[in-house]
Amino acid sequence: MSDLMEMLIRRGFLWQSFEIYGGMAGFFDYAPLGNNLRRKIENVWREFFVINERVAEIDTPLIGVEEVFIASGHATSFVDTAIECQKCGRVFRADHYVKEKLNLEVDPSVGAIKEVLETYQLKCECGGSFGEPFPMNLMFSTKIGAGKGKNAYLRPETAQGIFINFRRLSNYFREKLPFGVAQIGRAFRNEISPRQGVIRLREFNQAELEFFVHPAEKKHPNFPEVSGDVLTLVDKFDKVHRITLDEAVKRGIIANQVLAYFIGKTRRFLLAIGIKDEKLRFRQHKDDERAHYATDCWDAEALTSYGWIEIVGIADRTDYDLSRHAKFSGEDLSIFIPYEKPVVVKKKKAIPKMNVLGPAFRSKAKKIAEALEKLEVSSDEVELEIDGERIRLTREFFDVKEIEEEVAGEKVVPHVIEPSFGLDRITYTVLEHSFDKDMVEGEERRVLRLKRRIAPIEVAVLPLLSREPFTGKALEIAGMLKKAGFYTDYDESGSIGRRYRRYDEIGTPLCITVDHQTFEDGSVTIRDRDTTGQVRVKIENLVGILRELLAGERSIEEFGEKFR
Ligand code: ATP
Ligand code: GLY
Repeated sequence: MSDLMEMLIRRGFLWQSFEIYGGMAGFFDYAPLGNNLRRKIENVWREFFVINERVAEIDTPLIGVEEVFIASGHATSFVDTAIECQKCGRVFRADHYVKEKLNLEVDPSVGAIKEVLETYQLKCECGGSFGEPFPMNLMFSTKIGAGKGKNAYLRPETAQGIFINFRRLSNYFREKLPFGVAQIGRAFRNEISPRQGVIRLREFNQAELEFFVHPAEKKHPNFPEVSGDVLTLVDKFDKVHRITLDEAVKRGIIANQVLAYFIGKTRRFLLAIGIKDEKLRFRQHKDDERAHYATDCWDAEALTSYGWIEIVGIADRTDYDLSRHAKFSGEDLSIFIPYEKPVVVKKKKAIPKMNVLGPAFRSKAKKIAEALEKLEVSSDEVELEIDGERIRLTREFFDVKEIEEEVAGEKVVPHVIEPSFGLDRITYTVLEHSFDKDMVEGEERRVLRLKRRIAPIEVAVLPLLSREPFTGKALEIAGMLKKAGFYTDYDESGSIGRRYRRYDEIGTPLCITVDHQTFEDGSVTIRDRDTTGQVRVKIENLVGILRELLAGERSIEEFGEKFR
């Protein structure tokens, strides 16, 4: 186990689920500190992707009736190819196994995997042969209700809960594009062989944003905020670019401005929570790699001890989902977009000839005439469906008249740009990128250099000595800080040096110490985790100072008199 993983388990960030029953791959518990950290990352995400955007957040069920996933395509297309060893019985996700053993990126389809197994005579780690590769749907299925029940699935992404509410959501946004809808919550995938700790889970946390835009105007009003940002892009031909977003759009490397905007915004969010820029890149999916719903997709990838891992997927889902749900549910999921000024269009309308229709169609003639009047004609022949019967009519049954009509707008099915964040992978990457060792007073120190605002414990109050009056005063200050809303800890056990180390290890950015001088002039010391420097401040100013320190990256020296 890595030093980091050992620390995360020992100090209470992550625990293997079902541990007392032997555990189960693909499931992890968030222990107290990890839970706090992930929730804080979620809140920074909200700030970036909900509060400061034209975006609303919703919360929909984790279980979905099967109709949703039949329409979305997940029931048929959300599959990975598996291979099972004939000797030891172990099952592997085929494309990952091929990558691990042969360092080959393969098309994950059953046919392509079969070819690779044969060409390279690939065997199981135990020496056994694999049987025929087979597809496995990754959704967990379940039943709703008693008896036969109703078929349902645990959602594999939060996004579908947004698409199926589109009519109400567009109404909520006064039918005006662009707008976005976010959802943070659990997603479930019955991953074939999760072997990478918290990177591949069977139950995980997503933060997703579905941003709806006019298909002909894939622009974002805030693009200028990020357009000058320089980032590393790896395009679908594996060409690496160090380039501004503006240039990437102009050169057609990124297909449109909305995708580029969310790539830029994603990078800024990841940097804000402590992911290292030099260990971050955006990689475009190859043509055979994209999900069934996407026309273009960029992954934010972070370099970790597991190699480059995908932490965010940013996809152009076009109108795929809305069109499919409209077709399968029968609901109109388009939006009416008024033109700035009504447009006058010329139309050819059919004028029914009742004297010919009547004798030819008798009782149906009236219905045919009504249907004809609604038609715009483009040739000398039209086809109608009347009471389930198809009827062809030539010009002997109708005249054509050209009219001018004012059109106020058009109906469009919006396109969707979707940044989809895996919060577990992000939380883990933040931990890896923050984990550090240095030397303090001749001793090696482990320190988690978390950004102050996401630290699970923000401030620890420590009495210099574990006796009165130090303990009483420290408890009183801890109580005051808790009331003010800080995640505060109190610790009186061990030497002050050891206690500082304990808080350094879990990333607590600031320690407050009550010492002898506290009782002389009402001051305490604030110690900074990263520099180990200390300043002395008055207790009455403490809340305000901590608030400013925790909100940003300012140095403690700006707020108090240096202590040593
Ligand atoms: P992978 O190729 O690694 O299986 P994916 O392409 O299937 O991932 P997406 O479907 O794009 O992933 O999901 C969006 C985000 O959800 C990913 O960027 C990732 O951070 C997260 N995610 C997906 N699957 C898992 C999983 N099994 N465990 C943890 N996080 C996941
Ligand atoms: N919503 C994108 C995904 O989970 O695949």
